[in-house]
Parts: sequence; C-alpha cells; structure tokens
Amino acid sequence: MIVMLHAPIRIALRALSTFYTPQKPLTFSGPDAARKLADLMVVNGQRRPLIVTDSFLLQNGMLDDLITFLKGRGCHVTTFDGIIPNPTFAVVEAGLKASLDNKCDAVFAVGGGSAIDAAKVIAAASTSRKSVKKLTGTLKGDAPLLPFYVVPTTSGTGSEVTNAAVISDTETHKKKFFVDPKYIPIAAAFDTGLLKSLPAPMTAATGMDALTHAIEAYTSRNRFDDTDRDAAMAIKLLFEYLPIAYENGHDEHAREMVALASFLAGFSFTKASLGYVHAISHQISAHYNTPHGLANAVILPRVLRFNKKTCAARFAQLEQILTASASNDTDLLAEQFISRVDALADRVGIPASLTDLQSKDFGVISSDALAEARSSYAVPRVMRRSQVTRVLQSVLAGNRDLTFS
Ligand SMILES: [Fe+2]
Repeated sequence: MIVMLHAPIRIALRALSTFYTPQKPLTFSGPDAARKLADLMVVNGQRRPLIVTDSFLLQNGMLDDLITFLKGRGCHVTTFDGIIPNPTFAVVEAGLKASLDNKCDAVFAVGGGSAIDAAKVIAAASTSRKSVKKLTGTLKGDAPLLPFYVVPTTSGTGSEVTNAAVISDTETHKKKFFVDPKYIPIAAAFDTGLLKSLPAPMTAATGMDALTHAIEAYTSRNRFDDTDRDAAMAIKLLFEYLPIAYENGHDEHAREMVALASFLAGFSFTKASLGYVHAISHQISAHYNTPHGLANAVILPRVLRFNKKTCAARFAQLEQILTASASNDTDLLAEQFISRVDALADRVGIPASLTDLQSKDFGVISSDALAEARSSYAVPRVMRRSQVTRVLQSVLAGNRDLTFS
C-alpha cells in the first residue's frame, strides 16, 4: 500500500522539479553583510521594515547596529521580538498584528529558522485576504508577500533559501507546512559579526541539520545534477568547517563556510526533497519541543543505517568525495561514511539519545512520520511502522548502532 501511494507522488514531484528550479536569493556575506542587505531594501524602495526576531538577540543589543543603520537611511523600524523555538500560530498572529498596526512595507527576519519561518508567514499574511490558518498547505498564497529579507544568525535550517515554513499547531501537536515559491526571500545576509555569537551547542545542532538536508537531498529519488552538486559541496564544507566553528566560534571564515554549506544544502533539498530523518524528527519536536537540529542530529545515524541497503553506492560516492579514496569496495566505503557521520556528531557533542521521548507516544509518532514521508518526500527506501518504532527505541536507549535487514 505504501509503495502504491508513493509512486504517483514521486512521479508528480519529479515532473514538477524537472521544469521548476527554485530561484536562489541574492546573498551577501562578511562582517557588514546585514548593512548591505539593509541598503538593498532601501534601494528597492521600502522604508517601513518589520524586524522579526527573538528577545535574546534584541535585548542583548545584537540588532542595535542594524536598527541604527536603517534609521540612518530614513526608515521607520518596527521590531517584533516574540519569536520562540518551534513558533506557534499565536506567535505568527502577534507578528502579523505588529506588521499591520505599523503599516510595514517589508519584513526583515533576523534569527534562526524559527524567526525566518515565522517571518515568512507574517510576510504572506500581511498581504493576504486569508487567515493565517487558511494559508497552511501548498500554493495557498493569494498575493505576493511583503518584500522579504533575511539575516540568519544560525547556519543549518536553510530557511533563508527554501520555499517553505513550518509552524507548530499547539492544539494538534502537529507541524503545519506552508509551501510556496513566494516564500523564497529576495536576499539573505550571512553576517559573520552575528553568526560568531551563536553558542557551540546550537552551532552543532544547526550544522547537523544542514548535513541532514544535504544527505537527504543527495539520496533522494528526486535528485538532479544541480542538487547533487550543491549537496555534495555542502557535505564537504560541513565536515571540514563545522568542527572548527564549533570549537572556535570566533573563526569568521569557518562561520562563513558553514553558512554557505547551509545555503547550498537548503537549495538542494528544496528541489530534491527530504526523507525519514525529517519525517521522524518533526514529530519528535512537535511532541517534546525538541530543537529541530538536535532531533535531526540524533535521528540521522539511525536512518543512514536503514538506508544503507539502497544507498550504499551514494554513501560510497560521498566517502570518495571526502577522502579521495581509491577503493572500489562500495560496502566498505558506505560503512566508512556512516562512521564518519557518527564521528562528526561525537566531535560536536551530539548525544546518542533523547531522554524526553516516551514509548507510549511511539505509535502515533511512527504513524505521523510515515504519513509525512508518504505525502512529501521521495525517500530512497520505504520504512514500515515497526522500523520507525525501532529507530525511536534506539534513540531512547542511546544505541546508534542498530542494524536493519
Ligand atoms: Fe531541517
């Protein structure tokens, strides 16, 4: 039944992707990238930006330079600092009110994936005649967004390049997806002055999220030459620079390279799609409020082991890209690649378990994960419910090294 449902969706996704390549936002990088982005907004004629951010960034003065710069360019700046991890519909509604009350003419997201995702929906709802909930789903927008710019302060979600946003529904404990090419920002700024303040644990979790995006895109059945190229480059950059950014957050070059990797990975999965790591981790985050990057980082090694049966050649290619190995032993190379992911996770302090998980929830998490994958992802190997449950049990037990026939 699962396979029967997968095939038409996969064919439709393939057909759509063949004729549609998402546009990459214009990017700036370096210590004054946020100012360049602000200049672009002014050049584009907007003077009333809504800055969507979180209270930590605002209260610690990390936006002071940007706000002063915007005001110096004659802008009336409104700040909305109500962003929380896994933002809810209530958060989006509050941001929308700030946008409408202040007649904002642009949205400027400064923060991690939560801020960027919420800002996307605020920018869409600001111009729409629909309610926020009516914008849930694919291609539900009825108007162009307010001009939308992003300054990511984490490197991993890829939200700065993707056509999607995820908002938590606190009533159903489910993640709601908003998917539309209009959600791709006009431009993004990788400001190393802001990126280097990201704490090490968040650097690790968001970087592993980017690695998950790249690997899931590289092993997707909907992959293309350009998504392979960007995903492989993202993986290479992350193995080289994520440990450096984790161990020395002030290394601006490493920060810039991890940000670039996140961007490339985001582009590749937007076109090629994701897989079971995200399908499972989304349910975990919805139930236990686990940060998205951390949930992915913990789930990733388990799903790699499940996928090895059909993805050994792809994993072997990645191992050869990373090491220039001359070996032709596909199975050995694939094992080495999986071990390399384990080693990277260990080096950046990713735990082997998530202790918040409760086995009483495994049934509904497994069912919802399978439903998400079935409807959205071109997975390389189809999981059964019992196999998702085994992944969850291994996460609770802290055992990464499970085997699948
Ligand atoms: Fe992700």
